[in-house]
Amino acid sequence: MPEEYRPAVTVVDDAPAASRAAAAIIADVVRDDPQALLGLATGGTMIPVYAELAAIVARGELSLAQVASFNLDEYVGLPPDHPQSYRAFMEAHLAGPAGMDPARIEIPSGMAPDPQAEADRYEALLAARGPVALQLLGLGGNGHIGFNEPGSAIDSRTRVVTLDPRTVADNARFFGQGEEVPHQAISMGVATILSARRILLVATGAGKAGAVRAMLEGPVGPDCPASFLRRHPSVQVILDEAAAAGLTQRE
Ligand code: GLP
Repeated sequence: MPEEYRPAVTVVDDAPAASRAAAAIIADVVRDDPQALLGLATGGTMIPVYAELAAIVARGELSLAQVASFNLDEYVGLPPDHPQSYRAFMEAHLAGPAGMDPARIEIPSGMAPDPQAEADRYEALLAARGPVALQLLGLGGNGHIGFNEPGSAIDSRTRVVTLDPRTVADNARFFGQGEEVPHQAISMGVATILSARRILLVATGAGKAGAVRAMLEGPVGPDCPASFLRRHPSVQVILDEAAAAGLTQRE
């Protein structure tokens, strides 16, 4: 049997408190190493996390100018200047407001003519420059991490993935009316994510309660890709009360 670890779970009152806690952890990593290589995430959960980080920078308590990062994923078919591309998300929420150098933010190209070749290039680049000091993760309502949908294997690497219908529906809120949500993405695999030195997952809101319970208390397996985090020895999970509501084994 492979070893199973227990993530360190912190439950706070609400999403603003979760965002402050996550930003403080990221800030500590960068204070320890101002040139740290970070693994970064997108999604609604990260917007207030990055706003908190930008506030720490604005107070003069931190600089992200020398930090470099690898993002988890990108939609296939969205150009970098499309407002819903993850490249545009990172520039709007982190590079601009928190002073990260956009040239140091690596994200797969959603416009590569051969998306699987782009995925392989990205995996090799991360293997050469990694491991990341800290991988930040959100959690899909269906238990995905990055875009590793249910069914993803623990040994998966960066690849082209087809989004689950629930993910397409969940993410439709970010797109304009009548605008199609991409159905494919390039995503780091589960094994790529598990190669980080340390992992920090943030989940907030009642919509995540089922996935949080499956991640922490369900079987470790591909039905809930986030459950594979229990195969990594250094995982922190920050939840608000709403996201933690389904847990039966709270300390
Ligand atoms: C998205 C991203 C994930 C993110 C998750 C949760 O589709 N690919 O990296 O963590 O889904 O998103 P949100 O924070 O908007 O709920």
